[in-house]
Amino acid sequence: MANLNILVTGGCGFIGSNFIRYMLSSSTCRILNLDKLTYAGNLENLKDVEGHERYEFVKGDIADKETLDEVFGRGIDGVVNFAAESHVDRSIIDPDAFVQTNIYGTYRLLDQARKKGIGRFLQVSTDEVYGSLGKKGKFTESSPLAPNSPYSASKASADMLAMSYHKTFGLPVMITRCSNNYGPYQFPEKLIPLLISNASEDLSLPIYGTGSNIRDWIHVHDHCAALALVLDKGAPGAVYNIGAENEKTNLEIVELILRIMKKPRSLIKFVKDRPGHDQRYAIDNTKIRTDLGFRVAIPFEKGIEETVGWYVKNRPWWEKIKTGEYLRYYESWYKDR
Ligand code: NAD
Ligand code: DAU
Repeated sequence: MANLNILVTGGCGFIGSNFIRYMLSSSTCRILNLDKLTYAGNLENLKDVEGHERYEFVKGDIADKETLDEVFGRGIDGVVNFAAESHVDRSIIDPDAFVQTNIYGTYRLLDQARKKGIGRFLQVSTDEVYGSLGKKGKFTESSPLAPNSPYSASKASADMLAMSYHKTFGLPVMITRCSNNYGPYQFPEKLIPLLISNASEDLSLPIYGTGSNIRDWIHVHDHCAALALVLDKGAPGAVYNIGAENEKTNLEIVELILRIMKKPRSLIKFVKDRPGHDQRYAIDNTKIRTDLGFRVAIPFEKGIEETVGWYVKNRPWWEKIKTGEYLRYYESWYKDR
């Protein structure tokens, strides 16, 4: 991947910003970051690389053809598409932007990439496209798509469009489906940063239902390493599941965070469940380990301690976010639960 020009979309969000930092330090690629700067996009996430000689930022929408004409006109060798509306709860409140960005925006990117004959197109997808598991079994790459929320349905649609561009037009598309990420720079509407930041302020910690839902957690740095592997060595037309085989109930997560932060269990508040709440996710990561040599580097116990430490140390980062629009969203989503 030496000296390639990689277009990263949605690079000002949680995973995209970690990925850009990873690529700048571990490769010689040039990175062009195209981000619309929605409520979830934050230039502060990349403050430390702002002046890097191999990094450039463009504000724009992946669904806007003129923007894509301009950006692809600069000469792009590969695309990594992170840009998305990513929060399940917001997709329940208003699915509109999810359909627009996740489906139509991905279509526009694919079409531009096809016309320009782009060499690699990595569609960053999610395990949520597989729906929900019972007590047994794990998602493999051949599990059927069975999404349950407007968010996951929009991501599954994007996956299908991406695969159709490979099959019909020969665009070298790879799709990754990763489990729940945690780590630095995650927007504090998602479970782990929400719990840590609320606990820091001695606010209640909302847990949906009984807290028995299971997620399979992976540190964002491990996800980024896996994405770099797929971008470099993945087979065109292939899907790769990414996960760390680390299933936890939401109750286990909140109790662990309280223990690390030395905060009382009385902060937990069980609230009305999320509509259509998927019970369990679990990733079988055999394919990416066997075909590409992926190995998980960050054990959960170490990763979660460091992550709590990061949010405690970087309190000004999330304090700036937890104002205005965020507080309005929080109030409207949690007030009657
Ligand atoms: P995020 O919400 O933190 O970031 C999304 C970024 O996309 C933001 O910077 C936002 O400004 C940008 N964006 C939104 N609409 C855009 C548009 N129309 N044009 C350009 N930019 C736009 O999301 P994240 O958690 O970093 O997730 C990134 C990707 O990874 C998503 O595609 C998501 O589906 C996928 N994913 C996330 C997880 C997870 O646990 N967070 C797990 C698996 C897969
Ligand atoms: O599995 C990958 C997916 O993980 C990604 O595709 C999504 O972009 C990402 O947001 C995440 O989706 P989840 O719905 O699993 O993440 P969230 O952090 O919203 O919720 C994690 C679990 O915690 C879920 O079971 C719902 C529960 N939860 C969440 C919130 C925000 C609570 O109990 N209370 C809360 O306040």
